[in-house]
Amino acid sequence: MCKGLVLGTVVTTCMILFYCLSTPQIHFSPPEFPVPYSCAHRPAQPHSKPTSNGSQQSTGQTCTPKVDIMFMKTHKTASSTFLNILFRFGEKHRLKFAFPDSRNDFFYPSLFERSQVKDYRPGMCFNIICNHMRFNAAEVAKLLPTDTSYITILRDPAELFESSFHYFGRLVPFTWKIPGDDKLTEFLQNPHSYFDPEGFNSFYLKNLLFFDFGQDNTLELDDPWVEEGIKLITDRFQLVMLVEYFEESLVLLKDALCWEMEDLLFFKLNARKGSTVSKLTPELRARALEWNAIDWKLYQYFNHTFWKKVDAYGRQRMAKDVAELRRRNAEMASICIEGGHAVEAGSIQETAMQPWQPIGEKSIMGYNLKKNVDKAHRKLCRKMLMPELQYLTELGVNLWITRLWGHRDITRTSRADVLIQGAEI
Ligand SMILES: *[C@@H]1O[C@H](CO)[C@@H](O)[C@H](O)[C@H]1NC(C)=O
Ligand SMILES: *[C@@H]1O[C@H](CO)[C@@H](O)[C@H](O)[C@H]1NC(C)=O
Repeated sequence: MCKGLVLGTVVTTCMILFYCLSTPQIHFSPPEFPVPYSCAHRPAQPHSKPTSNGSQQSTGQTCTPKVDIMFMKTHKTASSTFLNILFRFGEKHRLKFAFPDSRNDFFYPSLFERSQVKDYRPGMCFNIICNHMRFNAAEVAKLLPTDTSYITILRDPAELFESSFHYFGRLVPFTWKIPGDDKLTEFLQNPHSYFDPEGFNSFYLKNLLFFDFGQDNTLELDDPWVEEGIKLITDRFQLVMLVEYFEESLVLLKDALCWEMEDLLFFKLNARKGSTVSKLTPELRARALEWNAIDWKLYQYFNHTFWKKVDAYGRQRMAKDVAELRRRNAEMASICIEGGHAVEAGSIQETAMQPWQPIGEKSIMGYNLKKNVDKAHRKLCRKMLMPELQYLTELGVNLWITRLWGHRDITRTSRADVLIQGAEI
């Protein structure tokens, strides 16, 4: 048994290393080719867009749904739920996704390069890119058309840090020497004595949001590059959504991209068991924010601009739209979901509905599709409930590197799968 354990550990370690090191070895730079203005392949049906506060809807103005979209998928930010929305929108309009090849991210944490896109050739037209990447504005701009809408999502950095520590902590070697059972608390008491900015995977545990945007996560808060980094995001991204106000964010998205309410329907995917309650005491929260000071500044800045957008949209109109979205989501839940709510992994009957699980914990909740869904809703229900990896496969992405872990005994899987998928909340 001992031998088995040792062997298991060795194999797992090798696989983690293989995964982490499987960055593209040959960095070739494809020839430059001017990108088109738009990759919308047919004029979409314009639909009327209410322009006022809702007091006088549909004044006859029409708009055309925007289909060229860059979604910067940040870590631990409910982005699996959002991806499901994007996948369905893409299928509805027959859009072309720029997917990664053989795995579900663009060689994160390497900076994005267009050569990482599956079947990329210069001059090709792509509508949507949405898998994990480390943002690289110049390269993305060489891939997507000029009319692309840039969208992203942020989350309260204290909550994000807790989630990231939970899921990625074990992948960061300097955490192995943190004593005690409550490593998070111990770390936050005295982060400087444990944190090693040069350490392998250390970015998971400091200003992960800022890092995801391609910035330097170890800067001092008063470094001018922090302001500069925030400015780059402001200039590039048309909409910065917030996890804490997910429905409001979607309504702003609908307004910005001229979508319809039915495009926004969602079920919360990839949620962690008991995730609705914060695990941080006020003191730990304060420490986590101090430790992730750049992300905190980033979050506060975009929280401010978010509410300015809501004001411009109209608070009453927003409340009305959020209520409608909630009502329609609840209606879909009663149509599609057995029992009407998420269940633990052990209670999910269909393997196609099993979400990816970290560390043999089975902490990620999933759903059972109702047995007798009427024909009109069957397809939509299935898609709304489909976990991210299954959906990616259905859209034609080959995930063999990612899948390598899926076929292994879950108790042995340990750290590797956390690296690849992890949970979102
Ligand atoms: C929206 O409605 C509010 C009152 O509900 C009003 O004060 C405001 O001027 C309206 N804004 C627009 C753009 O119509
Ligand atoms: C975000 O902005 C709202 C509205 O101004 C405010 O009530 C809330 O406290 C802010 N949240 C954070 C975390 O700063």
